[in-house]
This record gives sequence, C-alpha cells and structure tokens, in this order.
Amino acid sequence: MRIVVTIGGSILIQDNDYRIFKDYVDVLKEMKAENELFVVVGGGRPARDYIAIARGLGASEALCDDVGIDVTRLNAKLLIMALGDAAYPAVPHNFAEALEYSSSGKLVVMGGTEPAHSTDAVGSILAEFIEADLLINATSVNGLYDKDPRKYADAVMFEEITASQMMDLLSNKDIKAGTYEFFDHTAIGIIKRSQIKTVIVNGNNPQNLIKATFEKIGTTIIPE
Ligand code: UTP
Repeated sequence: MRIVVTIGGSILIQDNDYRIFKDYVDVLKEMKAENELFVVVGGGRPARDYIAIARGLGASEALCDDVGIDVTRLNAKLLIMALGDAAYPAVPHNFAEALEYSSSGKLVVMGGTEPAHSTDAVGSILAEFIEADLLINATSVNGLYDKDPRKYADAVMFEEITASQMMDLLSNKDIKAGTYEFFDHTAIGIIKRSQIKTVIVNGNNPQNLIKATFEKIGTTIIPE
C-alpha cells in the first residue's frame, strides 16, 4: 500500500524526551518494509509557543503560520535524524519535492508547506498528490470525539464519521495560526473530494499505526 502518516507534534515533542522518536523509528521501519510510506510531522507545543511570541510582536496571521511551519520542519528534522539511513536526509518543502525525494527509495519526512492550514491538511494533500491508499492520522487521543475528551469526561468517540459531519462539527471553530482544530477544513475537503480512506488513531502507542493497516481502530472517516 501507499500510506501517508501524519504524526501530531504533541505526540513527538513531550517533555524534551527523545524515547518516543525511537519507538516511532521501529514502527515506521516495519511499515516501510511492506509499504510505500510518507510521514508528515506537526508542530505541537513549541509551535504554539513560538506563534504566541510572534503574535505578541504584532506579526500577521500568515507570518505566525510561517513560524509554525518552521517548527514543524524542525520536528521533521529530528525524526529524520532518529531514522538515520532509512530516511531521505532533507525535509521537502512542497509535494513535488516529497515525490522527488521518495524516488530514492528512502522514507520521506516533511512538516508544513504554506500558511492557512495545519499539517493535517498537508497529510491529506500529500495523500491526494501521491494517490495514497490510506491516510493515518496519529493524534494524542483515541480518535475523534463529539467534544474535547481532555475537557469533558462524557465525550463520546466516533468509530465512523462522514467528512460532511466533520465539516459541521468544525463550522464554528477558530481558524487562526496555532489553533487549527482537530482536523482543519482543508484536510476534510481534500479527503472528501478524492475519497481518501482516513483513520485517526492514538499515536501515543505507535503500534496503533500498524494496527490501522489491517484492523478497525480509532475513528474511520468516511469520505462522503
Ligand atoms: P500543526 O499542524 O502542528 O498545527 O502546525 P496544529 O493543528 O495547530 O497542532 P497539533 O500539532 O495538531 O496539535 C503548527 C502550526 O503551523 C502552522 C499553523 O499555524 C499550525 O497551527 N502551519 C503548519 C501552517 O500554517 N501550514 C502548514 O502547512 C503547517
């Protein structure tokens, strides 16, 4: 299969601990042995911290996004470092570069591309670009919930949800740098228009990525 994996920055960057990177290396190498694999890495807390400073300095939203993109690329660089020889040594800045680097046969790891969306959108556009069979979104909770499970104990996880229902859930949310919601509009629109099979799983256990390739886990987004 051709698979795109997006890993939330909040998964990889936790308390300055390098160990989760090592766990991801094992899992990504295992997946790469049987699939064509592309990875997109998010910004997490450091991105939000940098964006807050940029916003405080009066930067425009696009410039704040740009700062966030730099942080996602830095996180991608760390994962490339952890993967060593298994990864292409540079972070692609756009989709054409990602495709070009993949012709090396190495694992390609990228961060953001341009302002006004999150790395979830990058993952879905990349999946569209390379005609991926599966998009796996590794996040910090078990799947997609009707409300934030970290704030509400009675939040209910969707085992399945259509892209249109997700659009409705997002309709009154913020679209500012550093605060794109669990999945941004762009990502959902792309999943819908290109019928991309998408699964959201808990990335705190990297093994869930492998599970998502052969069993039902987390939330499946139905592209309609
Ligand atoms: P993330 O993709 O990590 O955003 O990119 P997020 O959804 O806010 O955070 P998590 O990791 O899922 O919790 C960090 C920030 O970088 C900018 C946005 O401002 C985003 O909030 N960004 C990222 C872009 O503008 N374009 C991109 O292609 C990627």
